[in-house]
Amino acid sequence: MIYRITLAFLLSAFTITSVVAAPSIQARRGLVVSANTISSEIGVDIMKQGGNAMDAAVATAFALAVTHPTAGNIGGGGFLVYRPDKGAPITYDFREMAPASAFPEMWLVDGEYNFEKHHLSHWSVGVPGTVAGLYLAWEDHGTLPWKDLVQPAINLAKGGIEVSTHLAESLQKALPRMQDYPASLKKFTTDGIPFEPGHLWKQSDLAASLRRIANSGPNGFYKGKTAELIVADMKANDGLITLEDLANYRAKKRQPVFGNYRGYKIISMPPPSSGGTILIEMLNILEGFPLADYGSGSADTLHLMTEAMRRAFEDRARYLGDPDYDESIPLDRLLSKSHADSLRTTINLNKASASQPPSVNQQKESPETTHFSIVDQHRNAVALTYTLEFSYGSGIVAPGTGFLLNNEMGDFNAGPGITTDQGLIGTPSNLAGPSKRMLSSMTPTILEKDDQLFMVTGTPGGRTIINTVMQTIINVVDYGMNAQEAVDAGRIHHQWLPDQLNYENGRFPEEILNELRERGHLLKAQNSQGVAEVIINNIEADILKGGVDQRIPDGGAGIW
Ligand code: GLY
Repeated sequence: MIYRITLAFLLSAFTITSVVAAPSIQARRGLVVSANTISSEIGVDIMKQGGNAMDAAVATAFALAVTHPTAGNIGGGGFLVYRPDKGAPITYDFREMAPASAFPEMWLVDGEYNFEKHHLSHWSVGVPGTVAGLYLAWEDHGTLPWKDLVQPAINLAKGGIEVSTHLAESLQKALPRMQDYPASLKKFTTDGIPFEPGHLWKQSDLAASLRRIANSGPNGFYKGKTAELIVADMKANDGLITLEDLANYRAKKRQPVFGNYRGYKIISMPPPSSGGTILIEMLNILEGFPLADYGSGSADTLHLMTEAMRRAFEDRARYLGDPDYDESIPLDRLLSKSHADSLRTTINLNKASASQPPSVNQQKESPETTHFSIVDQHRNAVALTYTLEFSYGSGIVAPGTGFLLNNEMGDFNAGPGITTDQGLIGTPSNLAGPSKRMLSSMTPTILEKDDQLFMVTGTPGGRTIINTVMQTIINVVDYGMNAQEAVDAGRIHHQWLPDQLNYENGRFPEEILNELRERGHLLKAQNSQGVAEVIINNIEADILKGGVDQRIPDGGAGIW
């Protein structure tokens, strides 16, 4: 079989379907909203067995590694924001880590930047963080036995899942990238023949890898058979990850970044994700404008959002990276109201600013990732976003492991001083380095109102993540939308460079788009942006309401 890889596929990642308004979802005791209904239901089953939101999150994450292979993973990494009903919120950083042999110029071949090496090689694989992160969060807050949380995923992998139409189509497009990796083709085809919708897909190697995790926790992944299989594949393919790299991986607890938007407390992810910082910076800028008066989707609102995005994303590119490597990140300044005040004074309500010529420029980022939100009967809440970077990550399955390895090293900058009009970036803060974590945009976020849980939100989408999360929040806080309406509403994206305003096709009236053009924005239609999963806690009625994004099928809620 001959496969062809298209860059458009690599960077567009998931099949887009038209947006259909979904029925309202509500629950009294517990709610899980994720990109896969079976995985959401597994999370809720765990709550029914007496587990809390963290137990449900661990089980849902492992289940997504079986049911949602584009982004659900044990071979990738991510971030988790936890807000217990009682006590202080905390975040878990399980971002992938560069191997110890990584270095800033590693993406250059004969002095030239090499895309394949950066994004589609064994060098593009970061040391996975998911298993360590889920375990650390469970050790701190879980209540049910670890084994019981991994077991549902083992059952799914062993017993098989029915391949949906969406999964079959997405796999068909991904197979070209796997043609050099027999273990990947073994996992994702029947003797080289792509799966048809309805096929019962059993993943026995994955079940065995999950079993080792169930029995031994992180040691069942970072040491022993799984680690040896990963390293054997690295050695066979000129890869960099060693047994020491795997054994040295640690998930980290980090203090959240906090903001306040119109009286709602924002709790989000600090670096090495740029998400929480840039989200709060944008909300701080926009708080100075009467968005409710301007109206949802009005030209004034979209113009101001764009100008806030432009300014905050410039700060993202200039300042953000792994905080354990760069202690000079001006986090307090970026999060401050005074910084937003001074940026706001540079905004002209009637005219688009120009993004300044690229003394720094931006790296392309894949839109594939996945997010889920969970609230339990005690109103403990989890927002978790994790990823393999590209759809199906590196496309590499190390023989015998049954799971995909990420290509997250592609989130590091291209090389020192490298700046091109194609969007490469050369700033120091996010250059590759030994055991360093690459900058992310993932933005799992929780809101409080009057010290009580109010909203849980997040989405995939590369750099669009931060803007999608911001728009779900503004839709609720400024426009009074419910969770489903907040998820369904049309979205825009600007990221400073390239200086263009992306909008979801068919979601905004032509006269509004023309008004934006008249103000000087360069508009570009896109099919779809993000897959947000939102829960709102209606405090008075003591009811949880969910919004499941219909932009891709297969998503759904688990309700209790
Ligand atoms: N790989 C996408 C992100 O971390 O934002």
